[in-house]
Formats: sequence, C-alpha cells, structure tokens
Amino acid sequence: MKMIVEPAVRPLAGTVAIPGDKSIGHRALLFSLLSGTPVRVRGLGDGADNGRSAKAITALGASISRDGDAFVITGTGLDGLRAPAAPIDCGNSGTTIRLLCGLLAGQKFATTLFGDDSLSKRPMRRVIEPLAQMGASIAGAGGGEDVTPPLVVGPATGPLRAIAYASPMASAQVKTAVLLAGLYADGATSVTEPGPSRDHSERMLAYLGAPLAVQGRTTTIDTRAWNRDLAGSGFDVPADPSSAAFLVAAALVAGAGEVRLPNVCVNPTRTGFLDAIAAMGGRVALEHPRTGGPEPIADLVVRGPAASLRGTEITGDLAVRSIDELPILAVLAARAHGTTTVRDAEELRVKESDRIATTCAMLRAFGVACEARPDGFVVEGRPDRPFLHARVHADGDHRIAMAAVIGGLVADGASQVEDTDNVATSYPGFIAAMRTLGASVRG
Ligand code: S3P
Repeated sequence: MKMIVEPAVRPLAGTVAIPGDKSIGHRALLFSLLSGTPVRVRGLGDGADNGRSAKAITALGASISRDGDAFVITGTGLDGLRAPAAPIDCGNSGTTIRLLCGLLAGQKFATTLFGDDSLSKRPMRRVIEPLAQMGASIAGAGGGEDVTPPLVVGPATGPLRAIAYASPMASAQVKTAVLLAGLYADGATSVTEPGPSRDHSERMLAYLGAPLAVQGRTTTIDTRAWNRDLAGSGFDVPADPSSAAFLVAAALVAGAGEVRLPNVCVNPTRTGFLDAIAAMGGRVALEHPRTGGPEPIADLVVRGPAASLRGTEITGDLAVRSIDELPILAVLAARAHGTTTVRDAEELRVKESDRIATTCAMLRAFGVACEARPDGFVVEGRPDRPFLHARVHADGDHRIAMAAVIGGLVADGASQVEDTDNVATSYPGFIAAMRTLGASVRG
C-alpha cells in the first residue's frame, strides 16, 4: 500500500481523538488475563499490534466481550492459563512477544511464539537471558548474533527462581518480562535499570494488587506473603502520545488554527518528544491536566503559524524517553535552523526497521542532509526552502511511513510514501485524522 500527500496550503485545524496508547493497551490485555475478576477496559486502541495481544490472551484462556464502549476481559487468574491449541502469531509486535515470554516462562505448558518478517529479525536474548537465569526454558532460532523468533517458551517444571537482575539497558519490555515471570517465582524478583524506561507496567500491576515496590531505578515483585490474587475493576486507556506526536509535528510544520488532541497520556516516561520540541522552541500546550486511573493525561494543543524551530541535542535519558518519536523529531529537525544531533539511541537499530538507516533515507529523499551514526544521526535543518517532493519507501515501518507523510506537507509538490501497510499496527485511522485537520492525504 502507499499514501500520497500534497503540500499543506493552509494551517491545519481541528480536534482529533487519538486511539488508545499501544503500550498501555498491551498491558491492559495481558495483565487482565492474569486477573481473577473481569476487567473493563475502555479506550483500547484499534491497531493490529494490540489485536495480537488480544488474540494471544484468548488463545491462553481469556474471553473478551464488548459492553458499550468498553471491552470486558474475563481472565483465568494467575494459575488458570490454558495451553494454546496452536502457535501464537505476534505479527509485527515486539511488545506482545517479549511480554509473553515473561508471562509464559512460569507456565507448566510450552507455547510457540512467532511473528512477521520484521519481528523474526528482532533480538530476543535481552528477555531470554534473565528468564533463563530464573530457570525458564526458552529456545529460539539462532545462527545470527542474537536469538530471534520463533520461540518456544516453557514448560516450567516448578516455580521460577527469584533473581535480582541488573539490566544492561533501560527497556520497559525487558523489565516487564522479568516482573511478570517474578509473579511465578519463589521470592523477591527485582530489576534495576541504568535509566528510566516507561513505567506503565508498574502502575498497572500495582493497581491490580501485585506485590510490587519501586525504589529508585529498582522494581521488585515479592511473592512471599502474597495470596496470589490479581483483581481490578477496569482501566481507561488514554490516547497514545506516540501517535499524537505525528499530528503535533504536522501542526508545528504546517501551522495550526488550533489543533487539539484530547486525553493524551502525559506520563513523564513518554513525553521526551514534548521536551525535545520545547528545546527546539516549539510550543505545545498541555491543557486540562488530570489523572485517568493510574496515568496522568492532558489535552495537547498547538496554535499559531508554522513554528520557527532551532536545532537541538537529544541524548541520554531524553533519547530513551523519546525513542519511538525520533523519526518524527527528525522531520522537525529538518525544519529547524541549525543542526540536530541524536545520540545514545542505538536501540533504533533494532526497532520495526533499522530506524537510524530508514530515518536518514527518508530525510535524504526529501533533499535533507542526514548523517547516520552508530548510535543516532545528525540532521542539517533546511527551514527556508521546502523539501523536495519525494518517493519514500517506508521499509514496512509504521513510524517511518507516518513521519514521511508529515514531511510531505512541506514539500514542493506531491510526495508518495510506499510500503505503508503497517501504519495499521499502531494507527489505522491516521489518514482520516490528517484529513480531519485539513491535510490532503490519500491511501
Ligand atoms: C515498549 C517499550 C519500548 C518501545 C516500544 C514499546 C513497551 O521498547 O520502544 O515501542 O510497550 O514496553 P523497549 O522495551 O526496548 O524500551
């Protein structure tokens, strides 16, 4: 599939309801499987990745029904999971497969997990290593530098061993996999991270009554003196800041009468892109800040002419807190005066595509200079001339595809973005949302 985008001829304007946060949606589904009471989940996103987690939990014994605007998930409780009848297809979803590794590591049955071509290349050793230390059996395809799907997880022959894991990377997927396995371990399982990663799991597991404690960068699940009950009445999934980032960027580069994105998750572990935009001189208002269940939320609002931006540096914790938004931040950097440098983001190499290579290739197609580095990239902004209209290949990566569409808004003619099917993994309504704001985009 492809998308065609015309240059924006007037400022964007409108209100768009962004779909539910993908990270929180995965957790709402997977953790509800472990709940002993039905959980009502409102605001779940309609992306294919969350759909993979939904199918996975039904294969493991949960049932999902619709009740008005909510899904009611009836789980099996911690110890009632059923062996799936067939291998579980995780599609394009790294979060589904890595979190399932942790959840399934302590089960008494074996499960095979597989995915699409992109997922079949993604590194799994990062979760297998700590889980193996806990005594779990996980086998994968090897051969290359890392272990890749398909994976066979389990069976466990007894309780897992509690470990204190010093994670070499700030990764919410690794942290969550170990904590989920910790629910099936015989003591206190802890994960210590070198920097802050998104903390949705901690918030949600605590809400469900898991024996969880956070101290600094260490999160612990201690199953001693616990009745093995997880229960919660429901979650509201707030709108996804990673999807909102594309519309925020569109409003900044094209100008905005008023672009309003209600109810967005503004958990500080996810708002690195807003901090980067502020450092570049862009203005995004957070209106009506409030709390929605375990997560802070606000309406994101952009107003005013096309932003006058300046280059910045995105490194360290800020790179982790904006990791999924770096492709769209690169488009903003290309509209900024001066140079923007992204460092400490080697993780981009192993996302849905090699996002250092694909981000640079996308910007170069628009005539922007972008130099790839081992752990990031350097963008030379060209704010005073339009981008060259381009044909961009998205390499099957949803975030590269959407970033390229936003780039096309400031090009000197119509641009074509190819290989865009996977936009549906996170944001099936992306084209409709862009049109609501007045952009000319078609599929
Ligand atoms: C995610 C964590 C991040 C992020 C990914 C979703 C999650 O990956 O990039 O898109 O939902 O836990 P890491 O676990 O590698 O940090």
